[in-house]
Amino acid sequence: MVDLDKAQEIIAEYTSLPGGVLECLHGLQGVFGYVPKETIDLIADGFNISRAEVYGVISYYHDFRTSPAGRKIVRICQAEACQAMGSRELTERVEEILGIQTGKTSENGDVTLEAVYCFGNCAISPNLEIDGKLHARVTGEKAAELLKGENA
Ligand code: FES
Repeated sequence: MVDLDKAQEIIAEYTSLPGGVLECLHGLQGVFGYVPKETIDLIADGFNISRAEVYGVISYYHDFRTSPAGRKIVRICQAEACQAMGSRELTERVEEILGIQTGKTSENGDVTLEAVYCFGNCAISPNLEIDGKLHARVTGEKAAELLKGENA
């Protein structure tokens, strides 16, 4: 159950700031670990914008999620340099290993797979991160090794 009073308190901190919506979403995600869907109406009301606009901001910035993340977070870079080095194929392989699509969390809540647009590690791409630890030049085989047991 999301503490809506707490959410309201966080939202109120940002409503008078320029660019407050983005900061507010960061604030909510910082406290709850995600932006709960139950808070979308409160955000829309607080900033006097539509729900669609709130969802637009959330979906534009890949850092935000609207459901709790898995216990492990796997992220794969989808930006240009990594793509040129095979991050699409790598992503397909990882989706297969984990049994989930990018942007999703496994049903048992073990793992979330997310896209990232550049880790700043382009020279040794493609890059994959597991719980904040970056792995460079990741092949499908290396990914399988790194992820062994993640979907168990
Ligand atoms: S493009 Fe992937 S780390 Fe920069």
